[in-house]
Amino acid sequence: MKKMITGGLIATASDLYEADILIENGKIVQIGKNLSADGAEIVDATGKYVMPGGIDPHTHLDMPFNNTVTDDDWKSGTIAAAFGGTTTILDFCLSAGEEKLATAVEKWHEKAKGNSAIDYGFHLMISDLTPETEVELPLLLEREGITSVKVFMAYAKEFQASDRTLFKTFKIAKDIGAVVMVHCENGSVIDELVEEARKAGQTAPIYHALTRPAEVEGEATKRAIELAHIAGAKLYVVHVTCKEALDEIIAAREKGYDVYGETCPPYLTLDQSALAQPGFEGAKYVWSPPLRPKYHQEHLWNALKAKQLQTIGSDQCSFSYNGKKQLGINDFSKIPNGGPFIEDRFSILYSEGVAKGRISIQDFVDMISTNAAKIFGLYPQKGTIAIGSDADIVIFDPDKKRKISAETHHMNVDYNPYEGWEVTGEPISVLVRGEYVIKNRQFVGALGSGRYIKRALRQAAAERINV
Ligand code: URP
Ligand code: ZN
Ligand code: ZN
Repeated sequence: MKKMITGGLIATASDLYEADILIENGKIVQIGKNLSADGAEIVDATGKYVMPGGIDPHTHLDMPFNNTVTDDDWKSGTIAAAFGGTTTILDFCLSAGEEKLATAVEKWHEKAKGNSAIDYGFHLMISDLTPETEVELPLLLEREGITSVKVFMAYAKEFQASDRTLFKTFKIAKDIGAVVMVHCENGSVIDELVEEARKAGQTAPIYHALTRPAEVEGEATKRAIELAHIAGAKLYVVHVTCKEALDEIIAAREKGYDVYGETCPPYLTLDQSALAQPGFEGAKYVWSPPLRPKYHQEHLWNALKAKQLQTIGSDQCSFSYNGKKQLGINDFSKIPNGGPFIEDRFSILYSEGVAKGRISIQDFVDMISTNAAKIFGLYPQKGTIAIGSDADIVIFDPDKKRKISAETHHMNVDYNPYEGWEVTGEPISVLVRGEYVIKNRQFVGALGSGRYIKRALRQAAAERINV
């Protein structure tokens, strides 16, 4: 029941200090030097960082999409997340057409129940609002403790919402105190560019990137920002990839708008040339928005450092190369969009960010955990190391080197976009509410031990979130 973490260097979003942590009944109950163990099990963290567990605000587990279903479900996805230092995920619950929103949430509870190795919550996706769902939405969010709604401005044939639905969603979210997450790409323009490419016989994976130029992301980002501002809503722009979108976010934040931005590991580290590889290899790198020319990476790193972007999501949306990606072998527009990143999000950001001197360890904790907790109403239960917080803790070895490979990863896909990359730093042990899920690189958790976390709408709405 009781554990004491000793000898480590505690890293939070604001501090770095040596202290012991006493855990009882899943909570942090004391932090201090030379605490008395008093019968507690000792967790030796000598030479390691002791950090809040990662919060991944952007996952798609067991999700129907692009005429198929993502390959990682709640079992493989949450085990892989835990190996990667993530202790809470926020997954997108998809609503479909005329169906009641409550039905969608029930479906997502069914998927997760008994299967999650770590804690979790949902964002609720809206593609259309009927007079019925307009009434249902705020009541459901309140009842389920969901503080975030997702709207797509792209994927015209599947999820894309009209500007009217987007605007109405902003208004409802403002009234109830929810955050609206938006996929910002102009889906109608993309569809036109895709049709032109197909008619010209351009079928290779690189055309996925060439038919979704950065300008369509910049334009949609600006539109979302302005509509959210008119409605007075908080906007969270998911997976920001390029200077065009960043410029809009930075300008809006400078005017005091409630706009938050997320980027993802591949946009910081991989570039568009990956899609231009010979044969069908580029399909491994097809997701949306697409990878950009390399110069965008520097803009993203600078924005993270300047705190103009707040979070790193994995956008976990995995499809095996020798399986579902082959749906697009003759037509890039049929390649399922998405990649496997839930496991390496933490390591890639540490290795490329902290170990390479681009960001501080405190900034890292902020981006990988604390800011998401604040924006989505989980803080201070999660996202920090403080008395009273859940004991969601990562014991992280900053010197350990490892090679990323599909042969050793725990995700249910046959490739890894970072195959062969050597990264510095590894989560050695991971605790969720004081219980080991990963102990010395072994999974010792239990599927079904992860809890659904209800979040507080009013808390998320209370003031301009200080991130
Ligand atoms: O390509 C991606 N990102 N797939 C997941 C759906 C989304 O747009 O987030
Ligand atoms: Zn998206
Ligand atoms: Zn996504």
